[in-house]
Amino acid sequence: MNNGQKKKEIRVWCDGCYDMVHFGHANSLRQAKALGDVLIVGVHTDEEIAKHKGPPVFTQEERYKMVKAIKWVDQVVEGAPYVTTLETLDKYQCDFCVHGDDITVTADGIDTYHLVKEAGKYREVSRTAGVSTTDLVGRMLLLTREHFKGDKEYSVALEHSSNLGTDSTARSPYTGCSQFLPTTQKIIQFSSGLSPKPTDRVVYVAGAFDLFHVGHLDFLAAAHKQGDFLIVGLHTDLEVNRYKGSNYPIMNLHERVLSVLACKYVHEVVIGAPYSVTADLMDHFKVDVVCHGMTQIAPGVNVTDPYLVPKERNCFKILDSGNTMTTEDIVQRIIRHRLEFEERNNKKEKKELAAVKAIAKKSVKQNGDCKITQQEPIKSH
Ligand code: CTP
Ligand code: C5P
Repeated sequence: MNNGQKKKEIRVWCDGCYDMVHFGHANSLRQAKALGDVLIVGVHTDEEIAKHKGPPVFTQEERYKMVKAIKWVDQVVEGAPYVTTLETLDKYQCDFCVHGDDITVTADGIDTYHLVKEAGKYREVSRTAGVSTTDLVGRMLLLTREHFKGDKEYSVALEHSSNLGTDSTARSPYTGCSQFLPTTQKIIQFSSGLSPKPTDRVVYVAGAFDLFHVGHLDFLAAAHKQGDFLIVGLHTDLEVNRYKGSNYPIMNLHERVLSVLACKYVHEVVIGAPYSVTADLMDHFKVDVVCHGMTQIAPGVNVTDPYLVPKERNCFKILDSGNTMTTEDIVQRIIRHRLEFEERNNKKEKKELAAVKAIAKKSVKQNGDCKITQQEPIKSH
């Protein structure tokens, strides 16, 4: 505050598809929020995405709900236009628009941010390398490789996908995936940094929370209502694989930690929680209530009930969030639409490659060297 005047709040605009919301999306929103005071996020409709990119995996209602639950988001604008206009920024009193340092183009290959860029109302943040919807879909399709072994239909699908006309050696720097490297810094950035107050009622839940989805979200919202401080225990990859089998978990422990930490209902995460909720764990975190949703409870290694201790202490509760979505449902959705997704991803990568080449060409022409003339991304802290 200066001269008794209130400092003007900076309102930041972000938009996107936010299909299969992952911690890469959350990290871009975290960085965007850090550039201002209020973060408004526009999410496109299914129709708009289908027109420009191909059908989304999640419905608009699911996508709106997932974005609303990311802890850095203050408001979601449903059905935001694919091309960001100055009218949209004005309507929501936003000072500028923020996007990751990748290229987003319309069905006609036009940069969706050209209007805000021309008006000087565009800022960039670093895209989180090694995680994308494309990569996750790929992991799920790999999972089907085991399922469909020897299946004629699957062989035809594979053949079709390799004949889509992309140069297999050319990978987009955005959609083409490299490995995500988790760091303690990222965990700190995502963490709430809070500890329970002595008077807080502490709630504990545990699970795989693989491919964090709306089913998890509704469950965590219900668990959050049971007390003041919510701790989520995440089982190790080995443990999840023991009780889920196949290629599960699709997301590894580090990735699952960030997905859960990005949720506004969660205060703390136990990284690699024991499968059985032990007396030690409950006493250490001063847990008042342990909850589980309506999904089946797989027994522990010695066919033991993982909730035996909280049940004996009379502090175990089953919660019905009313949402029946499971990780397996998502994988099934992908399998059902695998050809469409492969085609969509190939098209997306092709468009990105064309845009990258065009920028490089323009830059060579202007500067006589290979430097790309894009605004420098704001590096992630
Ligand atoms: N984003 C990011 N890091 C990622 C993936 C996305 O920072 N690994 C950012 C994008 O740059 C954009 C926002 O998240 O600012 C919303 O992206 P969206 O339109 O949903 O889609 P994509 O960028 O296509 O994401 P994906 O590749 O996962 O489909
Ligand atoms: O299956 P997973 O281990 O990821 O589930 C974590 C927690 O979320 C469990 O308590 C489960 O019952 C709950 N859940 C839920 N409703 C869903 C999906 C999961 O209550 N649709």
